[in-house]
Amino acid sequence: MDKEKDILILGIESSCDDTSASVIKNGFLLSNIIAGQKIHEAYGGVVPELASRAHQQNIVPVVDQAIKQAGVKTEDITAIAFTRGPGLLGSLLVGTSFAKGFSLATGVPIIEVNHLQAHVLAHFIQEYDIPYDPPKFPFLCLLVSGGNSQIILVKDYLEMEVIGQTIDDAAGEAFDKCAKVMGLPYPGGPFVDKLAKEGNPDAFQFSKPRIPNFDYSFSGLKTGFLYFLRDRLKENENFIEERKADLCASLQKTIIDILLDKLIKAAKETGIKEITVAGGVSANSGLRHTLLQTAAKHHWKMHIPKFAFTTDNAAMIAITGHFKYLKDEFTGMDAVPFARMDIRV
Ligand code: KG4
Repeated sequence: MDKEKDILILGIESSCDDTSASVIKNGFLLSNIIAGQKIHEAYGGVVPELASRAHQQNIVPVVDQAIKQAGVKTEDITAIAFTRGPGLLGSLLVGTSFAKGFSLATGVPIIEVNHLQAHVLAHFIQEYDIPYDPPKFPFLCLLVSGGNSQIILVKDYLEMEVIGQTIDDAAGEAFDKCAKVMGLPYPGGPFVDKLAKEGNPDAFQFSKPRIPNFDYSFSGLKTGFLYFLRDRLKENENFIEERKADLCASLQKTIIDILLDKLIKAAKETGIKEITVAGGVSANSGLRHTLLQTAAKHHWKMHIPKFAFTTDNAAMIAITGHFKYLKDEFTGMDAVPFARMDIRV
């Protein structure tokens, strides 16, 4: 393969409920199109079968728009990178099949991407006219999304080790499920974030888990929150409505405290001061603020990605594909998606 030419990677992301396509040229972002799926709002969570159907409807127009907006031609694409997992199997199948079809039609190679690695590598997406200050290896990444809460030791672009993770629910699930019992729409994380700005974070105390090492647990908080509301509602049926902002602020503070306790411990024990955050929950304004405060206190160099690169997007898939392309890591046409995948794969 001629590596002197421009490297144009078309990235495809379809692991959950966002259909996304992106074009990256020599590591620089040209386009990043994301089509969300409103259909799940009515169900209070992602319905897998509906997600894969929506991906099928969205994938061709989304890819078409990404290529057009990038101002490139289909024949200019060097390789197509796609999310192989982890995620919802039916959703992943749409992206995987599209990548294979595109490869058969154009002759370009396919590159499988691990969704979790991609969240971490979102820090390396370059944009024209925006200063580039990526994290230096080795660094720690707090990966917090709807499906994951992990502390990852990142040794190189494609060399990562999970040193701590949730033993049950993810931080995003804690946000979403507690939001649901307060009657907030799905996904509740951004609504909790918004309401928390007007509330008192010390209004209510919720218990924190005692889990060894760098691991997390959020299921106890979720249950505790539910029981707390049930008891208060017996005394006052308008309790949630009257105290919603305080409930959101206190819940958010507890989740942030839990996340930060282990991150501080991991930074201390590894001696690493280069810290990053990734995943949908890293859009949370309280978490961002607390991370910056903690970084100043502990002399960390903190890297927080821009909002568009925190939630699921294909730009992170394309940049990971770029680094895999440089290492000649291509995928065979017999590749099938995986619902579960370790970050090392
Ligand atoms: O990474 P992501 O887009 O999807 C996967 O889980 O793969 O993360 C989605 C999660 C949801 O749980 C959502 O509620 C949460 O990220 N989230 C937030 C905020 N924005 C998104 N949680 C708290 N505050 C936010 N501002």
